[in-house]
Amino acid sequence: MATDKPRNVIAEQKGSPEAAFLLCRETSSLFLHVAKSTQTIQLIDNNPAIIALFISDYLSNNGPSKQPSQSANSSPDAERRQSTMSTYHLAIIVGSNRLESTNRQLAEAIAKLLPGHIEVSYPQIDDLPLYNLDLEGERPASVNRFTDEIRAADAVLIVTPEHNRSLPAVLKNALDWGSKPMDKNVWFDKPVAITGASPGAMGAALAQQHLRQIMGILGSVVLGGEAYLQFRPGLITENGEIGEDSHQFVKSYMDRFVSLIEKLVQR
Ligand SMILES: Cc1cc2nc3c(=O)[nH]c(=O)nc-3n(C[C@H](O)[C@H](O)[C@H](O)COP(=O)(O)O)c2cc1C
Repeated sequence: MATDKPRNVIAEQKGSPEAAFLLCRETSSLFLHVAKSTQTIQLIDNNPAIIALFISDYLSNNGPSKQPSQSANSSPDAERRQSTMSTYHLAIIVGSNRLESTNRQLAEAIAKLLPGHIEVSYPQIDDLPLYNLDLEGERPASVNRFTDEIRAADAVLIVTPEHNRSLPAVLKNALDWGSKPMDKNVWFDKPVAITGASPGAMGAALAQQHLRQIMGILGSVVLGGEAYLQFRPGLITENGEIGEDSHQFVKSYMDRFVSLIEKLVQR
């Protein structure tokens, strides 16, 4: 991927070893990185499902060579396996509305650990109004956008800080919108994994425990095990990757989640 990767990426898809796509949250720009050069396309719609269609159309019509050159860390066998695998869409919800959120950095670093058949997007939650039953008659557009994104996702990863030994209000608000009306609860049967970081030694552990309880009540299939992280220097490298000390720990957790998604999501 290009070294000048934009910040605040809300969707990312690896089309092939030669093509990758990034959608920048602030500008609604789609960055196409194809054969070592980056083009920027202004989007009129930032719905991940529409972008996914656009990307697959791009790849089949104008995309890079149909016989991509072998990348340094992949074998022809691995590439063949990859091309026959189903693609899964993972929505990554960041439980912080802070511009410089450390948990957003963590979420983007985790996305880099995922295999190529897992596409990610970052549904926005900071523009959802406070939940109010009075708004149910005509749900605000931002709420419909959010619930559509979660409904369309095969699985959800929540990366959250801890606020007063619980989850931040901005995240709880998004969960509440998704849970109503009860017969349209978007969390029901959804594979969910939970992680997050805080500067304290307990690494957002209690927020995660509380969140696990809520997601269970909402009917999600929550990945077992725990992934608490203390946000300290070196957790994320200058290149935006998980640092050496926690790399294997986080990767194993995500490998287990990918394997759960593959088992639960029927194609
Ligand atoms: C209202 C509030 C309450 C907080 N409570 C906790 C807490 O209970 N435990 C903890 O470890 N950190 C707590 N923190 C610190 C946050 O974890 C820290 O600010 C973290 O970096 C926020 O994540 P972000 O960088 O992704 O926004 C709290 C911060 C705020 C603003």
